[in-house]
Amino acid sequence: MRTGDRWLAFGLKPMVFGLCLAPFLWLVWDTFADGLGPNPVEAITHRTGDWTLRLLLLTLAVTPVRRLTGWQLPMRFRRMLGLFAFFYAVLHFLTWIWLDQEFQWTAALADVVKRPYITLGFGALLMLVPLAVTSTRGWMLRLGGNWKRLHRLVYVIATAGVVHYLWLVKADYRDPVLYGIALGVLLAARLLRPKPFTQKPAAMRSVQARGAAS
Ligand code: HEM
Repeated sequence: MRTGDRWLAFGLKPMVFGLCLAPFLWLVWDTFADGLGPNPVEAITHRTGDWTLRLLLLTLAVTPVRRLTGWQLPMRFRRMLGLFAFFYAVLHFLTWIWLDQEFQWTAALADVVKRPYITLGFGALLMLVPLAVTSTRGWMLRLGGNWKRLHRLVYVIATAGVVHYLWLVKADYRDPVLYGIALGVLLAARLLRPKPFTQKPAAMRSVQARGAAS
């Protein structure tokens, strides 16, 4: 990454952080300002679920964007996006276990076993934990090649998130289908592996130009 880009990333980090935190602050505001409608628990569950999925998909979009365009800058924010996805997933789970299930662990566990969409959501949350824990540079170095293999789980998690959403809607399938299409495109970009964008070093370019001129 060029020095200019490094400074840009440094300057943009607080902005990206603020943008990722904004839905949470908005939720807190609406909670206290009575802005959550007639069923506040449902509204919180939906908003936190939506943001978990959006941030998961954004995290997944970073590598294909770099591969297709050579743009390195978003790579600097990938970890933050992933950790915010985890943050909203934990909030989503807390809303359910606290406000919906009132910490009745036995009943909650029965729900996890009985309702397939909850089983999937719960599985996705459990899979996110090792990814969040090992997202640091230290773990990246410690795990070596296994780090990449482990972090491919994010595709399974996002798929589980989309199916979880598809499973729980009763009538209007438009939103989960749109998320599914976005995930399909990202998966295809991953599987088809477009040729990485490479910038030829200036020295090589001038040698080639001289060769063409002679
Ligand atoms: C990565 C993990 C997860 C993702 C991506 C996710 C995503 C979502 C999404 C997108 C929605 C629908 C939002 C809307 O209608 O606008 C939703 C709803 C819901 N999720 Fe999750 N979820 C996850 C984990 C969980 C977990 C761990 C639980 C509980 C154990 C859970 C329980 C629920 C419930 C109860 C609803 C609302 C169902 C309804 O309205 O009938 N989810 N989730």
